[in-house]
Amino acid sequence: MLITFEGIDGAGKSTQITKLIGWFERKGIETISLREPGGTDAAEKIRRILLDSSGEITPLGELLLFSASRAELVQQVIIPALESEKTVILDRFYDSTTAYQGYGRGLDLDMLRSIIQISTCGIVPDITVFLDLDPETALKRKFAEKSIPIAFDSDELDRMERSGLEFYRKVHQGYRETIRQNANRFVILDAKENADIIHLKIKEIIRQRFPFSAAIKQ
Ligand code: TYD
Repeated sequence: MLITFEGIDGAGKSTQITKLIGWFERKGIETISLREPGGTDAAEKIRRILLDSSGEITPLGELLLFSASRAELVQQVIIPALESEKTVILDRFYDSTTAYQGYGRGLDLDMLRSIIQISTCGIVPDITVFLDLDPETALKRKFAEKSIPIAFDSDELDRMERSGLEFYRKVHQGYRETIRQNANRFVILDAKENADIIHLKIKEIIRQRFPFSAAIKQ
């Protein structure tokens, strides 16, 4: 089973992923948790290039770097894990590319789809949890988390975070459009709700969607 988490930076994905891993572990479900970009030696190196705030990267270069990192992770880790019946939890997958590089940076969506198909080897998540938060609140959270004043040129921000509020508005809009086109795969949850309540909802949805798993049912 492949479960992915999506949302704009600051929506609380990591908190929910940690809680979900804890629940799966208590149930004895073998789980691997990974984040994109990253997860293999080469992919972690690519992550550093992508997030390094001192470097300029063009939108096309950015797309190809995220895709190269994904191709490594998919082939080296995700496919073997799924083949050995493990549950894989991914902090971001190709929906991030559609939202950030497609809608955020404005790259051609058909070209993006082809590259996504190649870099994922055609793998599609069983379920994608979208933690919905308006860009203004998400960014306020992000700045508060780092204890820095709101300024998009801050040295504390990575290259993506420096892209500004207008960019994040487009990304959020991109997610909305992606969800509309993939309604069956997505679960949308209000990221402003209490984290424990969100976790309960995620558990409930997984129980409903995967009733075949005896371990999850209990
Ligand atoms: P990260 O620190 O992992 O952010 P977060 O905690 O918000 O997940 O940094 C990943 C950044 O890369 C984040 O700003 C989203 C962006 N991103 C893309 O633009 N395209 C992609 O395909 C992926 C996977 C991430």
